[in-house]
Amino acid sequence: MKNRTFLIAGNWKMNTLQPDAITLATQIAAISTEILSSVEVLICPPALHLAPVKAAIETAEVKVGAQNMHQALSGAYTGEISAPMIASSGCSYVILGHSERRQYFGETDALVNLKIKQALAHNLTPIVCIGETLTEREAGLELAVVTTQVKGALANLTAEEAQQLVWAYEPVWAIGTGKTATPEQAQSMHAALRTLVGELVSDEVAARTRLLYGGSLNAANAAELLAQPDIDGGLIGGASLKATDFGTIIQTAFRLSA
Ligand code: PGA
Repeated sequence: MKNRTFLIAGNWKMNTLQPDAITLATQIAAISTEILSSVEVLICPPALHLAPVKAAIETAEVKVGAQNMHQALSGAYTGEISAPMIASSGCSYVILGHSERRQYFGETDALVNLKIKQALAHNLTPIVCIGETLTEREAGLELAVVTTQVKGALANLTAEEAQQLVWAYEPVWAIGTGKTATPEQAQSMHAALRTLVGELVSDEVAARTRLLYGGSLNAANAAELLAQPDIDGGLIGGASLKATDFGTIIQTAFRLSA
């Protein structure tokens, strides 16, 4: 039994047309209904589907979040969406600094830091993604890389702000590859991450902070990963697009919190 409630978050990435998104969200809401007291469930559909998905599951306690946002409040940023827009669609979370954003859209730690501040100012809980590439792991640099990312994300944040973050450790080599970190690899990084948050913020905040694992987490490997003492949930891509698989992961978290 952990002293932190599991958070099971689905990152749908650029998948689903609107009718499929509503069907999937409704199915997940139905599965989640009985167990939400001990597991928090979050879905992050594409931005265009946020409001209709939220409306479709209005009565359910499943939370809805965005996958990214711009750091400015409003203005001439064609194609972008802002924190107030996300909040006004009924969302409570936003994924920031996903490795795909870093890799394909050039997002830096400094940019992620600006986005975190704007998200917090609009009552959105940022899920800050960090993680090393395969080359970095092979060179033994995983902890150094993650430490730099965490320090960059936390720059100039008050302890009050820092304690609101959720972190997702997602080794880049495990994302969408079917190659999951072993429970030992994940636990070891999560423990280091908690120590780091303790050093940079406070031990009290570190003890309460949720650390999610992401990277080919699925219905089959969820139990061994979520059973690790410092893994407080998952950020799930591929397996979050099938209600039965995502449902199995939610049920697994429920079993482990009992
Ligand atoms: P995956 O994606 O579960 O498909 O590996 C995880 C993520 O990118 O958040």
